[in-house]
Parts: sequence; C-alpha cells; structure tokens
Amino acid sequence: MVSTVVLFLAAIGSTSAFQPFILPTKTSLASFSSGHVVLLSSTSLSSSLLGGDYLLSLSSGANPIRNLPRKPIVGGNWKCNPASVSALPELVRNFDGCSAFLDKCDVYVCPSNLHVAIVKDQFRPGISVSPQNCNFGGCGAYTGEMAVEQMRDMGLDTVLIGHSERRGEFGLPTPAESNELVATKLQHILDEGLRCIFCIGEPLPVRERGIDAVLAECVSQLQDIVPILRNLQDKSRVVIAYEPVWAIGTGVTATPAQAQETHKAIRDWIATAVDKQTAEGIRIQYGGSANAANAPELAACPDIDGFLVGGASLKPEIVDIVAAIAK
Ligand code: PGA
Repeated sequence: MVSTVVLFLAAIGSTSAFQPFILPTKTSLASFSSGHVVLLSSTSLSSSLLGGDYLLSLSSGANPIRNLPRKPIVGGNWKCNPASVSALPELVRNFDGCSAFLDKCDVYVCPSNLHVAIVKDQFRPGISVSPQNCNFGGCGAYTGEMAVEQMRDMGLDTVLIGHSERRGEFGLPTPAESNELVATKLQHILDEGLRCIFCIGEPLPVRERGIDAVLAECVSQLQDIVPILRNLQDKSRVVIAYEPVWAIGTGVTATPAQAQETHKAIRDWIATAVDKQTAEGIRIQYGGSANAANAPELAACPDIDGFLVGGASLKPEIVDIVAAIAK
C-alpha cells in the first residue's frame, strides 16, 4: 500500500539538521491511494502529499511542533460586532499579517451576517469569510434566513454552525438549535460544496462533573453527524470547534491539559464511532478566551489543530494567535 510513497530529501547537506519527527501512523499511510508522493526538504518546513487531502507540516528545527497529518486552522468569530460599519476597515486590517502564514495555517473570519457582503473582498487573498449560520432549505420563503446557495454564489467557501450561542446559550429565551437541526445543516452545507465549522462544547455544570460527563455531552452533539463524517471523502471539509461554554467570553481559558484531554477524548471517540481515518484527518479547534498569551501553550498540544477566537479576533493580536500555531 505504501510502496508508492517516495521520500525525496532535497537540499541534502545537513541531514543531521533533521530532528526526529513522527511520520503519519501506518493507518494514515495505508490510507493514501497509490501515486502519492511525499516531498520533504531539509530547508522547507512543510511537505505536501500531492493529490491527497493531507498536508504534513514537519519541522526540521529543534522543535518539531506539528507532525500530524492536519493543517492548523484559526478562525475569528466577530459575533454581532462591530456596532458600526465604519469600524470594519480596522478589524479587517488586523488580519493582514495572517496572510504570511497561510501556507501553514488556514484562516477564516466570521463577520456579523450583515457585514459579510461588505467585507468579503477586503481581506488578503486566501483568508476565507464565513457566515455564522445558515439555513438548510435553499432559497425561497424563509424569512430572516441565509441560504448556503446564496453563500456559494457570493464565492464564500465556509460556514460556521452550531455555536453554543445558537444552541441555547444566548441568555435569551430563544429556542435552542437541536443536534438534529445542526446535523441537517451540515449535510446541506457539504452537499452545496462548502466547508463547515461545526461547534460543540459543554456548559459549566457538565465540566464540573468531570471528563466523562464532558465527553458524553460532546458525543450527544456529534452523534447525529456520524454518518455524514463517515461518508466524507475530504476530512478537512468539516472542522470541529470545541468550545467549552464556561470559557467563552469569560476570560477563563481551559488549561492546555484540560483542552488536550478533551480534544483527545473527542478524537478517540471519533475513531471508534466513525473510523480511524476520520479521527486522524479531522481538525479540532479550541475556542474559549483564546488569546495571544495562551495560544502558544495550547498550540503545542498534539490534538489541538487551531483556534476559534472571539474577543481577541477583534484585536491585532489575532496575528500572534495564528503565528503561534503556524510556526
Ligand atoms: P471568546 O469567544 O474567544 O471571546 O471566548 C469564542 C467563541 O465564542 O467563538
């Protein structure tokens, strides 16, 4: 199966510069179809599997931090901000520096839905603009809704759904979006060819009951999308954003140990409930008071593939957050 995986070591001269790194597991390699070629360079830090869905980021320096078959991804969630259109140019400029890292980290921004069309062409090339919600029934008599078909027509490639603030954590008695509804939206998004950021996370009383309760809560939010994930060819098209509700907007961040434990538990569950290939290929972002100060430690955790950033995405430090996981 792996006989066609060829390693080219370009610019050999200082092979001792290579620190040990872990190639994808046997399962990952076995899942490559024939014809894939891995290009490794002692000077380039990244390698790509030509024609495949995976991107390996390998470090030849002393600190190989990303040796997993997943490209990091960072999103900025502006929620219902800013209050004024006049504030948009400055918020957009905050992302300019992120473009230097796009070969190592995907970046997307979720402006308020009203502002999507205003800013969508204002970001540097390669930075995706993602609405914060969508419907599942296409265009028609759906007052107040936003159709994925309209997004695709506008050239948008990403949609965020299932944020806890739509799953009953609004602080208002608005009906919570059900797991079934969010799963229906996901299927529709994928059918229309877009990528989805799928948010999950537990409230504080669940966290206080321990990791088993946390995992059970996350599983309850993921169960309905198991068949969808199983059928997904390109695992990078669904990104899970794990956002503990108690950490969102509170300034209280999950510790790296807590976040890593939870991400790993989710990934292990996916390996069993969906399959190993999905578990290894799907990206799981951390969200909840992520900022420039805590990003480096969180980014060093092997199962944290990026961040969904709220408050700090409205500030220049978003570049430092991207840099922390891209470097
Ligand atoms: P926060 O929000 O970074 O302000 O905690 C994250 C989110 O809700 O996506």
